[in-house]
Formats: sequence, structure tokens, C-alpha cells
Amino acid sequence: MVKLTPPMGWNSWNTYGENINEQLIFETADRMAQSGLLGCGYEYLVIDDCWSLRERDANGRLVADPEKFPHGMKAVADYVHGKGLKFGMYSCAGNMTCAGYPGSFEHEFIDAATFAEWGVDFLKYDYCYHSPLIPGEYLYRRMGLALENCGRDILFSACSWGADETHEWIKTSAASMWRSTGDIVDTWESIKDLAAQQKKLHPFNGLGCFNDMDMLVVGMHGKGNVGLKGCTDIQYRTHFSLWAFLGSPLMIGCDIRDMSQETYATLTNAEIIGINQDPACRQPYLLKGFWHHDNLIAYAKNLAGGDIAIGLFNMSGDKANASFNLDELGLPGSTGKTLLATEIWTHKQAAVKNANISWELAPYDCAVFRAKVVDK
Ligand code: GLA
Repeated sequence: MVKLTPPMGWNSWNTYGENINEQLIFETADRMAQSGLLGCGYEYLVIDDCWSLRERDANGRLVADPEKFPHGMKAVADYVHGKGLKFGMYSCAGNMTCAGYPGSFEHEFIDAATFAEWGVDFLKYDYCYHSPLIPGEYLYRRMGLALENCGRDILFSACSWGADETHEWIKTSAASMWRSTGDIVDTWESIKDLAAQQKKLHPFNGLGCFNDMDMLVVGMHGKGNVGLKGCTDIQYRTHFSLWAFLGSPLMIGCDIRDMSQETYATLTNAEIIGINQDPACRQPYLLKGFWHHDNLIAYAKNLAGGDIAIGLFNMSGDKANASFNLDELGLPGSTGKTLLATEIWTHKQAAVKNANISWELAPYDCAVFRAKVVDK
């Protein structure tokens, strides 16, 4: 399958870990459809690790845990599809999944066939307990081929955390997204760290195979499986803006049955999502004329149709003044053009003075502009 924009959806891991069950998935599917999340593009509902029994059946097939999923996985897929959503599941390139359930190693084709029978549309494929003798690229190619030949369109979501130079080979495997970082947790330090890790990896992101910076922690506020200290609503907004700007898949990780208005407003900002889903999927570039350090980052990205997205991100607890020059964007005075830049979260317009734009950022806040090229 060829996915043309970063996949969007919800995944069970961040909040529920192993505590998943049918009822919870049904309620989440209901909320995704009713709340408007599906309408905003969040279409994949993904069950992560811990859904199966610890043993395969006599035919070597994976079996859904009957206590957690008493009606079986096909019934779950049918329910999810009935809400207009797509259904995702999880397995692993090793003998076991990261939580110790059976992995797909040496069962790739039979597992792909099982997923196809159940009506699965998305497979997240982890890297725990993999053979030390067989290169990761061989393992991901195996499952990629198994999925391409299973008779159903299943999006392949690779999750080898960037290990073993994943960026160099992942596009050979039919993956539509690949985890370019380790696991996220619900702290500001984790968000900052994952954003920094991406810096070298932007050239590998783009149309058809997207760098996955891991599931969002927006709205978790310290609750659930990876909920630690939690973050503030402003920090979640900056986290969401960064993931969207950098072209990561947007997979919600909070309990959407119990979302605050702020969380909902962050996750459903259509203009921010528009930058993420821009059809050109161009590589973002760091603004070099800008005084960069770990705590203040600035990116621009050329959008389809000629607009430019500009993102200023204050990663620190101090307020900051960010300023950049239009020359770097390709608009020196000699072009006779300038920018009409509107900030998406506040709807304020930036003033352009001597081809410079300056903007005050509150602690941990960001500014994301959609800018039009206009006559001076
Ligand atoms: C790994 C992955 C996580 C999650 C867990 C499940 O750590 O990176 O995203 O899937 O396994 O055990």
C-alpha cells in the first residue's frame, strides 16, 4: 500500500499498556467517530501489544486472548469498521513481542494471512527479541512481503526505534512509516529529546514512508501506561505542533473517552493538521539565520501551492524572542515580494520589518505560521 500523507489515528499503548479489552476498544471507536476526531483525519484505531494468548494454537496461529476479546478479533475489526474507522494491530519481528507475547518471527506469512482474515488494515511491527544473526532489514522485508501478498491492503508500520541504521534500509521493506526514535513518555524532557533526535533524520522522511516520532502524549496529564510527570496544555500544544510540522504520523495516545476541551482543541486544529497532511510532504528545513540552541528551534517548510509554514518552538521555561530573515526563505527584497504570515493558534499576523519577522514566545510555547507570498 502506498500512503501519501502521514497516517493518523489512535493507539492503545500510551494509556492502557496491557490493560486492553474489547469494551474499551468499542468505546474508543464510538468516541473517535462521534467526537469528530475521525472527521479530522484520525482514521486508524490500533491495538498495541498484549492482545493475544501467550501460546499459538495447534495450527501455529495467533489467538486473541478470550478474556480480553471474548468475541474474537474479527468481531472487533467489524465493530471498528462499522464506525467508519480502519483497524490496526501489533506484532513483532522477534520470537516474542516486547511484553513477552508470541512474535511473528518464522510465522510472518501465516500471521499476515490471519490479520487479513480478521480484517486488519494496519500492522505495527516491533523489534524486541529479534535474532542477533539475521539483519533487521531482512526481517522487515519478510513481513513487508508477507503483507503485500496477503490479499488485503495493510499499512505496514515499522517500529525498530531507528536501531541498526533503520533509515538506510526501511524504504526497501514496503513500510509506510517507521519509528525513528525510542519510546516516548509523558514528560517534557522526552518530547524535547525526541524532537532533537529528528534533526539528522529529516532527509529520510517524506511521501510514502514517514518518520514516526512515536505516539502523541497530548492530554495524558500523567495518567496511564507511559504517564509520568505529565505536561501542561501549552507543552502539549507545542508537542503536537512539532510532530505535525515535522511530518510525523499523528497517533493519539490519551484516553479519548475522557478528554478535556483543551486536549480536544489541540488535537483537532485543522490548520496544524493541514500542515502535517500537506500533499507535497516536503522536507522541513532549520532556519539557519536564527540563533539556535537546544531550547529554541525554528523550522520552515514549503507547502503545496506556494505557501510557507514556519514553526518557532520554545523548548525552555524562559520566555524567548525569536527572529528570522526572509532572505533565507527565498524572498530577498530584490524579488519585490514579502510574506503575509498568520499565526495559527492565535490568529495574529506577524509584522515584517526590514525583511525580518520577530515573535515573542512564552515559556514552552510555539508559534506556527502559514504564510502567503504577497507583493511588498
Ligand atoms: C515497544 C514499542 C512501543 C510499544 C511497546 C509494547 O517498546 O516501541 O511503542 O509498542 O513496545 O510492548
